[in-house]
Amino acid sequence: MKIGLLNGPNLNLLGTREPLVYGSTTLAQIETLLAGIAMELGATLVAAQANGEGQLIDILHGWRGSVDGVVVNAGAYTHTSLALRDAFTATSIPFVEVHLSNVHAREPERHHSMLAAVSIGMVCGLGASGYEYALRGLVGTLRARA
Ligand code: DQA
Repeated sequence: MKIGLLNGPNLNLLGTREPLVYGSTTLAQIETLLAGIAMELGATLVAAQANGEGQLIDILHGWRGSVDGVVVNAGAYTHTSLALRDAFTATSIPFVEVHLSNVHAREPERHHSMLAAVSIGMVCGLGASGYEYALRGLVGTLRARA
């Protein structure tokens, strides 16, 4: 099983970006952590990050047919991007959405997710550990479906 880890805008700055909101774990550390958990689960991980909406869509198109599922933190595009949701449905790649912060406890414009309605599920507010829970939940769901 091959899993994609996709991170969106500004998440390349994790570690130094608003640590009180997003924690001090870097994206590289999250990618390393998830690669280890994927191995433990008998899966492989491919990780990508992009700041542009179109770049994220291109990455998903490239994963079509080769990746079984995706853990995604789309950053602010979560709240705005119908195009990204369309990319998930167009590629038929199942995914779990993750957010480091509890988006529902923040500004109203962060309460709505364009992706959630077509996701397997969503983890938010648990910091970097949320990526681990998302990965375990994704792999478990895909295995149960197989
Ligand atoms: C985020 C929450 C988003 O609202 C924000 O734009 C981000 C990060 C999170 O992980 O908590 O960039 O997705």
